Amino acid sequence: VKVIHKAVAVRHALTAERIGVDAISIDGFECAGHPGPFDTPGLVLIPRAADLLSIPVITSGGIADGRGLAAALALGADAVNMGTRFVATQEAPVHPNVKQQIIANNEHDTVILFRKFNNTARVARNEVSEQALSIEGREGSTFADIAELVAGVRGREHVLERGEMNGGVWWAGLSQALVDDIPTCAELVARVVSDAEAILGRLSGR
Ligand SMILES: Cc1cc2nc3c(=O)[nH]c(=O)nc-3n(C[C@H](O)[C@H](O)[C@H](O)COP(=O)(O)O)c2cc1C
Repeated sequence: VKVIHKAVAVRHALTAERIGVDAISIDGFECAGHPGPFDTPGLVLIPRAADLLSIPVITSGGIADGRGLAAALALGADAVNMGTRFVATQEAPVHPNVKQQIIANNEHDTVILFRKFNNTARVARNEVSEQALSIEGREGSTFADIAELVAGVRGREHVLERGEMNGGVWWAGLSQALVDDIPTCAELVARVVSDAEAILGRLSGR
């Protein structure tokens, strides 16, 4: 079994490397999910991780196409992990409205929740995430005040299964701005790889 440790900070990745994991998957601030408290974007995080770690580095956050893969490789990553991009594929087991919403959304359509509770979470901007953010911003509010709004089961049932796009919170990263179709996973991977190869070839000619 290979152990891949997910991290958002190089110092946490270094600890995991010291303990003996096989590879690091490191997320820049752009990512869907939990970007951590440091807000370090990939442009700095990836070369830092590549410089300081000896084990393979898989990077993610904001990567959705061959340009992202080529850039990540240029910055020193060994591989990429794409989350949001794969939600808008034929095979993703979510309601078609979710896939269309990812296409419609841009880089302004995410919000960071739970910063106050030291558990930052980047989710899609919608009525529920806006409401949760507003309650979180109130002085003295606690997680209990938004727990029902942001419950994972609510997002799964209302958004992912029924396609009610304002029914709950759902994960999405800034990379949604780069998504404009719903390919199969095979088409997507082939395209990302061939676009990256073409870009790297063009750059080497400069
Ligand atoms: C729908 C969805 C579910 C995710 N679930 C998890 C999870 O359970 N554990 C985890 O470490 N990361 C999770 N992530 C984060 C991804 O692994 C990845 O770090 C992130 O999506 C990268 O940013 P990107 O969306 O810009 O590609 C999830 C992302 C999405 C979009």
